Amino acid sequence: MNTESIITVAVTGASGLLGRPLMSLLESDSRFRVRGAAWSRAGGSLDRVDITAPAAVDAWLDDVKPDVLVHLAAERRPDVYAKDPEAADRLNINATEALALSCAAREVNMLFLSTNYLFDGASSPYISEDEANPLNAYGLGKLAAELAVSAASDKHRMLRIPLIHGPSDSLEESSVTVLCKAFLDTDGPVVMDVWQTRYPTFTPDVAAAITKLLPSLADGTLPGPALHFSADEPFTKRDIGEIMVSYLGMDPARAVDDSRPPSGAPRPKEVKLACPKMDAMGLMKITPFRDAIRITLDSIRDAGGLERSILV
Ligand SMILES: NC(=O)c1ccc[n+]([C@@H]2O[C@H](COP(=O)([O-])OP(=O)(O)OC[C@H]3O[C@@H](n4cnc5c(N)ncnc54)[C@H](OP(=O)(O)O)[C@@H]3O)[C@@H](O)[C@H]2O)c1
Repeated sequence: MNTESIITVAVTGASGLLGRPLMSLLESDSRFRVRGAAWSRAGGSLDRVDITAPAAVDAWLDDVKPDVLVHLAAERRPDVYAKDPEAADRLNINATEALALSCAAREVNMLFLSTNYLFDGASSPYISEDEANPLNAYGLGKLAAELAVSAASDKHRMLRIPLIHGPSDSLEESSVTVLCKAFLDTDGPVVMDVWQTRYPTFTPDVAAAITKLLPSLADGTLPGPALHFSADEPFTKRDIGEIMVSYLGMDPARAVDDSRPPSGAPRPKEVKLACPKMDAMGLMKITPFRDAIRITLDSIRDAGGLERSILV
């Protein structure tokens, strides 16, 4: 391939659940050159960059000289966000705004990962033009960040995704797999939510879609400003738990329904992201949940993540 057509991609949050499969795909694709930034898990090929420090971010951008930037770094846990909203806002809003402005100043188009928690669940499914009305601080932070990203450049784009899972070394890294912990850690009944409907989405599928849209993000032809990507199989947490524990050889009959709204940060009852733009671009390749979750759980088992959970 002509080196002039190679796209240089910078990725924040490269050590995270979504960042790892994205880095793997980009590193193995000759159309791209990639540099990833991380924080506590930096090292190896990942640069250590505190994205809440604008000078460090600018120095990194000037070193990498990307054509596009995929911004994944964030606090993604609504309950953690609610406990220390100022710290979370610094990461999710302030750092994102500074990054969006720094990218715009360098003519680097940015893809910002956002969430289905922008919506209140009153009229699911949602297209990207529907009005946002977040119910929790995490969703409000992502909305504020989206507005800042849009204001920084009309070539920046948002990609909203729902709950994700994928290859990992621990059950705790995803709100999907963490549901197994109670089954592993106790022998008795396990109370499981049947109130909220979720659309668990496989990180390698999201990473593949991102990889495919990067050329059009780079040349400014990607439709926007926001896009949706989501699996389309609806599940309650109980459904998800039963599928996972059956696969792991435990008794799913230990699950006991809890039909009350979950405690902690408020959540919408159901937010399905409709994905017509990604569909029109042919980017909606979705692995069925039962196949995807086996890959996820196998990776955690292979890494010793199931045994460690039993010892906790
Ligand atoms: N997980 C979900 O279910 C979900 C659902 C919807 C949307 N999203 C969005 O998708 C994106 C990716 O989520 P994810 O689950 O992959 O996140 P994650 O696994 O929690 O990873 C977060 C990443 O942010 C990095 N980070 C944290 N603080 C940083 C700092 N001060 N400076 C630099 N990097 C920092 C972390 O680096 P270290 O680990 O090296 O410290 C890590 O790479 C996020 O924007 C999230 O809001 C996620």
